[in-house]
Amino acid sequence: MLFALVRWIGGTFLVASLALFPPALVAELVFRKHHPWKEHLIAAAAVAVAIGAVVAPAAWLGLRFPRLPGIPGLAPGVGKGARRPDEPATSMTAQGVASLRAAHQLIDGPPRILDDPISVQLIGPEMSARIQAHPDHLRYHRVAALRLHVLLRSRYAEDRMAVAVQNGVRQCVIIGAGLDTFAYRQPPWGRDLRIFEVDHRASQDTKRGLLENAGVAIPDNLTYVELDIEKMSLKETLIAAGVDRACPVFFTCLGVLVYLTRDAGRDLFRMVAGFPTGSEIVLTYTGSESAEEDPTSLASHARALGEPWLSRYSAEELAGELREAGFGAIEFLSREEATRMVGTRHDGLEPPKRVRIVSARV
Ligand SMILES: C[S@@+](CC[C@H](N)C(=O)[O-])C[C@H]1O[C@@H](n2cnc3c(N)ncnc32)[C@H](O)[C@@H]1O
Repeated sequence: MLFALVRWIGGTFLVASLALFPPALVAELVFRKHHPWKEHLIAAAAVAVAIGAVVAPAAWLGLRFPRLPGIPGLAPGVGKGARRPDEPATSMTAQGVASLRAAHQLIDGPPRILDDPISVQLIGPEMSARIQAHPDHLRYHRVAALRLHVLLRSRYAEDRMAVAVQNGVRQCVIIGAGLDTFAYRQPPWGRDLRIFEVDHRASQDTKRGLLENAGVAIPDNLTYVELDIEKMSLKETLIAAGVDRACPVFFTCLGVLVYLTRDAGRDLFRMVAGFPTGSEIVLTYTGSESAEEDPTSLASHARALGEPWLSRYSAEELAGELREAGFGAIEFLSREEATRMVGTRHDGLEPPKRVRIVSARV
């Protein structure tokens, strides 16, 4: 709301000053002597320029993608432990999206798109209080759209996982798990699953610290797999961690592909497609929107956090890559289905304009 107002005021004065300045100049040149219209025009242009000069920078700041918050109160040193200088640091984007899932529990109305009380425990009371004190910030349309995407991708992945489990799948690998909470709020149908969370060591250390702070127990059927997907073989590492290559696996890769190079993405697709029939991956991808050159974009924001976007796909490109890797069925979540998940609501969350969530099955 505040952002929108500042942007509107700044934009109006900027346009007014630009519009008034040329006629004022012409008036000055044409009516060399005193003329009441000339004086009024010049005065109006001067006022508009002066106000525009003050408000326009504020408007520009208002246009920037609002900062996705890191979680305050992280235990000092959490995630910093024995990290080597060449190891990636704790993911800040993972903390940002976790805050968005928590915000859904705290400030959005019914129906819940994703029921995730653990996310609120993870971010802690300080961050929860901040979210509740400034709900407007999170209702800004770009943040609301991102929140909806983050909710829909988890909801869709978990809906698909329930179907896979019904069909006999008993292994689940969460790639780039960040602060994903599925393992800590397992529904009854998930209890027979063996769950593997893959991420960088620092992000996993941070997560364990947050879980401990929040008093959330680590379930027996969960294994942490420390790995840099760009540098190590995902398949070998998973098998070494206990994934059974003879049985189907359900994979999720939510908000991660964009941080991998195209080559690493291709290897990932082939690796998943190499598991037995019944295996599946639910993933998200990023298109050409949100250019890095635009300092207000989410891409620039992620780069500033040290997590640059490395790959983008059109729907056709991604479908081609997945087919080439060997997947049989490829299904893009439709806007209609996403709209059904959003449901009828009165909290301002609107159905998404576009959806970039895919299921690919072996
Ligand atoms: C935007 S977060 C998404 C986290 C989680 N999937 C979610 O939806 O909340 C991206 C995650 O991918 C992880 N990641 C990025 N590149 C990676 C890599 N090369 N190897 C392992 N994990 C990676 C980051 O550490 C981070 O946890």
